[in-house]
Amino acid sequence: MIFDRNEKKQVVALLGAGSMGTAIVRRIAAGKKILLGDISEKALERVGDDFRRSGYDVETQVVNALEKDSIEAFAKKAASLGPVMYFIDTAGASPNQAAPEHIVNLDMVGTGYAVDAFGRVMAEGGAGLIISSQAAYMYPIPNEDELQIVNAATERLTELPIVKNVAMQNSGLAYMIAKRVNHLQAQRAAATTWRERRARINTISPGIIVTPLAYDEFNANGAGYQAMIDASAARRVASSDEIADAAAFLLGEHATFINGTDLLIDGGVIASLRTGMFKLQG
Ligand SMILES: NC(=O)c1ccc[n+]([C@@H]2O[C@H](COP(=O)([O-])OP(=O)(O)OC[C@H]3O[C@@H](n4cnc5c(N)ncnc54)[C@H](O)[C@@H]3O)[C@@H](O)[C@H]2O)c1
Repeated sequence: MIFDRNEKKQVVALLGAGSMGTAIVRRIAAGKKILLGDISEKALERVGDDFRRSGYDVETQVVNALEKDSIEAFAKKAASLGPVMYFIDTAGASPNQAAPEHIVNLDMVGTGYAVDAFGRVMAEGGAGLIISSQAAYMYPIPNEDELQIVNAATERLTELPIVKNVAMQNSGLAYMIAKRVNHLQAQRAAATTWRERRARINTISPGIIVTPLAYDEFNANGAGYQAMIDASAARRVASSDEIADAAAFLLGEHATFINGTDLLIDGGVIASLRTGMFKLQG
């Protein structure tokens, strides 16, 4: 049976077909062409099948977000399917899943390559979203280092002192710095490459969202996460669907004046931290 006879549909490209990414795509992709990219062939098969059985038009491609060539091939594939109106990047590893080098290369450099590559293929009026983290607000990067980050080509990021000397010390620092760099990557793209294509790009910084990635964090540092939940005004965790609601707004027609900015969605954890009501351990 042919479910959809429309041609030349808008393309929604998702890098990292995990919990948050797929929740976002479900909210925005009705009537569009979906391209899912992930390092896990098995995940792509499972998620792709799930989308198809729910009536979506979906293609998949194995992508390693640690490799520039693989990301560029993914962006090219997206462009070959039609006008790329949406790009969402949720490929990432959390502090208890990987060594500092892996986190820097995936969450920071890989994201940079993806922003660069999609900055060459986005359609006019398109919108992008990088999933950063509340962790971006936990380590204040000095202004001079932020300037170096903003001015560095993606392939040079690992040579910067803040990355070489601080981020590489441990996975927690690597994650906090990489996620803050995501904000700066979106700002730079919004002002340069994406601007030239008349496309927007923003970030969302989620707090504790219950996903497989978060379970790895709870298992390794349950007490730390419990303390954050207890210190937050919301006094709870959140689901990927709550992030998807905000993502749909940021990617959509009511947010066309929102560009190069970050939306923190953390139930109030950072408010507690900034006002001294809560202190991070370690
Ligand atoms: N869950 C949380 O509490 C939370 C909080 C803040 C930020 N985040 C961030 O949100 C993003 C999405 O996380 P999630 O919670 O949905 O996790 P998830 O594990 O469900 O999704 C992450 C996806 O990235 C994919 N991936 C990992 N390495 C890859 C690579 N090299 N190339 C391509 N794909 C790769 C994984 O296979 C997985 O499908 C991550 O960047 C994470 O750091 C998560």
